[in-house]
Amino acid sequence: MKTQVCIIGGGPSGLMLSQLLHLKGIATIVLERQSREYVLGRIRAGVLEHGFAALMREAQCGERMDKEGEIHDGFIIAHDGQMDRVDLHKYSGGSSVVVYGQTELTRDLYEARDRMKGVVIHNAEDVQPHNLKSANPYVTYRNGDEVVRIDCDFVIGADGFHGVSRKSIPRDVLKEYEKVYPFGWLGVLSRTKPVSPELIYAKHERGFALCSLRSQVLSRYYIQVPLTDNVEDWSDEAFWAELKRRLPAEVADKLITGASIEKSIAPLRSFVAEPMRYGNLFLAGDAAHIVPPTGARGLNSAASDIYYLHHAMVAHYQNGDSTGLDKYSEKALARVWKAQRFSWWMTTMLHTFPDSIAYDQKLQDTDLAYLFSSEKALGSLAENYVGLPF
Ligand code: APR
Ligand code: PHB
Repeated sequence: MKTQVCIIGGGPSGLMLSQLLHLKGIATIVLERQSREYVLGRIRAGVLEHGFAALMREAQCGERMDKEGEIHDGFIIAHDGQMDRVDLHKYSGGSSVVVYGQTELTRDLYEARDRMKGVVIHNAEDVQPHNLKSANPYVTYRNGDEVVRIDCDFVIGADGFHGVSRKSIPRDVLKEYEKVYPFGWLGVLSRTKPVSPELIYAKHERGFALCSLRSQVLSRYYIQVPLTDNVEDWSDEAFWAELKRRLPAEVADKLITGASIEKSIAPLRSFVAEPMRYGNLFLAGDAAHIVPPTGARGLNSAASDIYYLHHAMVAHYQNGDSTGLDKYSEKALARVWKAQRFSWWMTTMLHTFPDSIAYDQKLQDTDLAYLFSSEKALGSLAENYVGLPF
């Protein structure tokens, strides 16, 4: 087979890039290791920065998001028994975020790819990029006993944190930066009315908690748990009881509980791989960097990669201008690191660290006190949360 851009990974990054390139007449093939059902069965985060929402519209996939997604102009930080609101709209100069499940967004991207007869190959086994430093790279995968070869101009590694793309960059070229937090988030999805119309991030000495939502009938809640905990240790009853303990009484009293329809533990990790280009391989999204979920930056760091890559590819194919491709890694990483900084800051401010000393706790409290005493500090939070410009 032959294409212009071979994209490894059919998550939001790979699908979005495929869709945007298609609209500019650039051919792509997407190779996804899992089945479509499996990809669409994964429960992921649900806050989109306005820049990602704009990309969805540009990719002609924004209709359902605009109909069913909720615009959120602010969120709450609960701490020390009080509830302080961050007015995103006011402090970001009129911007906001869209609450729309990443699973739904992925479904919309798949439907758009189908509509435009895009090639997305599922259950592609043993995907392997080759000849990345040459002008003729290719990718192979296995379909049963048959090995299929795809010749292309460029390979995009959009295959997430555990993918094969990043691993195909030689160790002496790639530098990895990683920070693993000593806790995870236990998340529960329930078909219940959300406790609050806006998200509540709660700092509590027993550990962080988050009240989020997917719609007015679907709630998503999280609590910080030690890394040694297993999902099986947590009955629904135990989860709700612990969540209530960490919320202000006025919220806990209103919480509507119900059976969990999904329950999982995700470890918290920050990770960046540099550079994001190796020859004709370009990394994008989780393949190159991940953040702890506290600042809702996961998908949003992927958004700028896709934006830069898409424009760089179009300039290359339409005008023979490769400046964007040459500058991609540097440009993408500059924004990636800002999302890393923001996610680290939100995580550090709101969680309980097992090894923290009294001094650290005083600083955490002061961070919050400063935040809500300074319009400039709120402005900084707001501009990062709604998404820094691409
Ligand atoms: N070959 C082919 N596909 C692969 C391979 C492989 N060797 N390894 C992984 N994949 C697929 C995964 O099955 C997954 O569907 O690549 C896809 C990567 O998707 P994501 O992990 O969702 O990563 P990305 O598309 O970059 O999405 C950005 O935003 O909210 C965050 O972390 C969250 O996934 C989210 C991310
Ligand atoms: C979610 O709804 O899953 C969610 C929302 C905000 C976050 C993280 C996760 O910061």
